[in-house]
Amino acid sequence: MLSRERIDAIVHHYGQDILDHEHMEIEKRSLQHGDVTTYEHSLEVARLSVAIADRLRLWNHVNLRALVRAALLHDYFLYDWHDYDDGSHRLHGFRHPYAAERNARTDFEIDDVVANSIRTHMFPLTPIPPKHLEGVIVNVADTASAIQETLASWMSRLLRRKRADAARKRQRRRR
Ligand SMILES: [Fe+2]
Ligand SMILES: [Fe+2]
Repeated sequence: MLSRERIDAIVHHYGQDILDHEHMEIEKRSLQHGDVTTYEHSLEVARLSVAIADRLRLWNHVNLRALVRAALLHDYFLYDWHDYDDGSHRLHGFRHPYAAERNARTDFEIDDVVANSIRTHMFPLTPIPPKHLEGVIVNVADTASAIQETLASWMSRLLRRKRADAARKRQRRRR
């Protein structure tokens, strides 16, 4: 089983040029789930994708370079979705995989495995499933990361509110 450090090394080995690209500055400024930026989320999806390939012993079945690059680019839509479609965000869910693929094609040379994995990462919200195993892994890793990041944000908001309530009660008792 690969260590966290080894997984990180693999992600950087295959994706350093993506992580260093100037457009990643947009991802670093854009929030994805809760307090997590799109950049942090994409990095986490890449780490998790490699971890899934490792735990399921899929080394002989996946193209590791394509897997890492698809994961890093799956949300390469390059805007803060909180500013999108007048705040309703409904269309963002359907459209952003296509925007991410378009931007990825502009900034990098991507093959069909990477392009298809980016385009289908929101399945089943979007109708066409991934064609490649790499896409299935990115899809699963993305869903798991999104749930984890959203739950962490809910929990911390809940804990903050509980602490504030408790502090208010203590103050009232002192009066
Ligand atoms: Fe996405
Ligand atoms: Fe994502």
